[in-house]
Amino acid sequence: MGSGFFSSSIGRKIVVALAGLLLCLFLVVHLAGNLLIFAGAPTFNHYAAALEHNPLLPAAEIGLLALFLLHILFSLKLRWENHRSRPVGYAESASKGGRTPGSRTMLVSALLLLAFLAVHIKTFRFGHPGDSLYRMVMTWFSNPYYSAFYVLSMAALALHLSHGVQSGFQTLGLNHPRYTPIIRALGVAFAVALCTAFAAIPLWALLAGGAR
Ligand code: HEM
Repeated sequence: MGSGFFSSSIGRKIVVALAGLLLCLFLVVHLAGNLLIFAGAPTFNHYAAALEHNPLLPAAEIGLLALFLLHILFSLKLRWENHRSRPVGYAESASKGGRTPGSRTMLVSALLLLAFLAVHIKTFRFGHPGDSLYRMVMTWFSNPYYSAFYVLSMAALALHLSHGVQSGFQTLGLNHPRYTPIIRALGVAFAVALCTAFAAIPLWALLAGGAR
């Protein structure tokens, strides 16, 4: 893969799609780990300790950061190029009725997610868990404003993924009159299921009144 790949528009689209789909994989793994919170403090803290002592963690974190950067920077570049060559916008696809709430709000949902990630990583990745990560997470979520921010952010994530997943698969060539509607429906189902499960954590912690 030469440098020409990254400087071509289709090359950049493929990078955005691949990075986005790999980020979805991260989200599934992250959700699976976080759902252990429902099993109680010992299980969740045990999981957190195993993660922290995993020698592969620094490499995984660097890989994750690289995926986020590639996905964000290349998307912005593509958007900018699109805007320059077609400043009127997406009138053509709009007239075909191809726009969905997710596709129309990609930039807004992306900006909300960036704000979410900044807050989330500051509190949970760089926060001081004290005696346990379980207690820290439950204490933050006992704050209704903090929990509401999470639930709203998960709505933004659902919107983003409802378009992003199917768009990523289409870029990678999964485009067929018969299968595209199925991929679209599966993308939306994935987005809603993932985000509902994530949002259940702060809601449950809030109702449980935090760590006791
Ligand atoms: C209720 C929802 C969530 C909870 C309870 C949660 C919990 C946590 C916790 C406890 C950490 C620090 C420890 C660890 O690395 O596992 C963390 C890190 C992180 N979370 Fe979440 N998370 C949630 C949702 C999300 C979402 C939706 C995203 C992405 C859109 C996300 C992205 C990240 C990232 C990038 C890190 C840093 C990973 C690292 O550097 O190791 N999280 N999360």
